[in-house]
This record gives sequence, C-alpha cells and structure tokens, in this order.
Amino acid sequence: MLYINFKELNRNHSTLPKIVIAGNWKMYKTQYEAKSFFQDFSSLAQPQPGTQIVICAPFTALSILAAYTANQPAIALGAQNIHWLESGAYTGEISAPMLTELDVKFAIIGHSERRQLFGETNETVNLRIKAAQQVGITPILCVGETKLHRDRNATESWIISQLEGALIDVDQQNLIIAYEPIWAIGTGDTCEPCEANRVITLIRSQLKNPDVTIQYGGSVKPSNIQEIMAQPQIDGVLVGGASLEPDIFAKIVNY
Ligand code: PGA
Repeated sequence: MLYINFKELNRNHSTLPKIVIAGNWKMYKTQYEAKSFFQDFSSLAQPQPGTQIVICAPFTALSILAAYTANQPAIALGAQNIHWLESGAYTGEISAPMLTELDVKFAIIGHSERRQLFGETNETVNLRIKAAQQVGITPILCVGETKLHRDRNATESWIISQLEGALIDVDQQNLIIAYEPIWAIGTGDTCEPCEANRVITLIRSQLKNPDVTIQYGGSVKPSNIQEIMAQPQIDGVLVGGASLEPDIFAKIVNY
C-alpha cells in the first residue's frame, strides 16, 4: 500500500516506530477484565510490521498486563498520566519510577478529560512531559479544540497555544502528539479525515522535529480507520471506546 511506503520513507531515526496505534482505556477494566482482554486481543492482533500497539490501561491493571506484554514486543504498555516529581505528598498522583518498574513505555499527557475535569494546564502538561522523557517514557501529548473554538475559527490559534505551552524545553525526539478534537471524543462524530490531516499538517509545521509521530483521536472505529490512516500526515490513532473490546480493537490495529 502506497501510503505506508510514504510513511516508511519519513521514518525518524529514533528507536520509536513511526506508526503507533494506542488504546486509551480511561477508567475502565479491573485486573481480571484486563487479563481476559489481553488473552483474546493478542491472538487476534496482526498489525503490519513496524506498527507499535500501545495499551494505556488504568494504573491498577498495569502490573498484570506487564506480565503479558513482556513476551509481545509489538504491544507496549502506556499510563494515562504521570507526575513530575519522583515522590512526595501528592495524594492520587503517580510517579515516573513507579511506572518504569511496571515496564510502562508510553504515557498519555494532557488528555482533554484531564484538562477539562481535573484542572490540567499547559504548564503542568509541560512538567509531566519532561518527567516522562527523563526516564525514557514516550509522552503522548494530547491537543485539540472544543466545538466553540471551531465555531469561532479559533482552532488553529488554540492548538498553536497548546503546543507552545506544552513543548517548552521538550526533546522532540522522544515524543508523540495526538490531535483530538474534543467535539469528536466519545461522540461517534469523527472529524473528517482530510480535516484531521489539515490540522495535523499545521501541528507538524510548528515542530522542530517534523518526523514526530502524530496521531488522530476521536471516535476512531473499524469503519473509519482505513480512511484515517490513508491520510499522508496521520501516523497513528488514539482510540478510546473502540479499544475496550478485543475484537474491535484488533480490527483497528489490523486495518
Ligand atoms: P473515543 O476517545 O475514541 O472514545 O472518542 C478517544 C480519546 O479520548 O482518546
């Protein structure tokens, strides 16, 4: 397939695969459910060579999943947050060394739910990204506009300001960005792939490293994955609801 070859040509020289398909489980799945998911999913997943699958599970499910992913290099573990200090009196937070101990390789940072519901700011996002990178965890930085920004023609300026704040002094060699328009998350209302490609082209133009893997997220499902991945600037996807069922997520990673 031509578009894959195009992306292969643009592969960066870091150890990160260019194509990254990540599932964001949010606050779903007990350890028992996570284990049962993995047993089914690992036998169904047959991604194209060079594709990295990431499962961003709740903290409590990470240790049980680590036992399985150790034998499956195509599937890595991700966290959904990370604090910028190693330890301290920060009730409810999790630190980088706690995650590396569980073989966590990726961490979602600045998801819109963290920003909208838990007071995450560009400043704290920036601190979290740097803490992840210091221990070799690849941050998946989420950016995206609300419906109101879009209606006011403020999508571009909003995303540029999110990038500027989040990327101060950040190493762009070990970084993934996810473009997630908030109005498309969990709504079934996917952003048109060509429009996602346009915004991702804008994001790429703001970066020092133009080879950064940039994902699209927001109502990704088996029926739209091919069209999304066919876009020249889209290197992967961040999948919420459709990553919870092993057969559905397998259809996405096997697109
Ligand atoms: P969704 O969520 O795929 O359920 O829209 C995406 C996300 O929140 O990362």
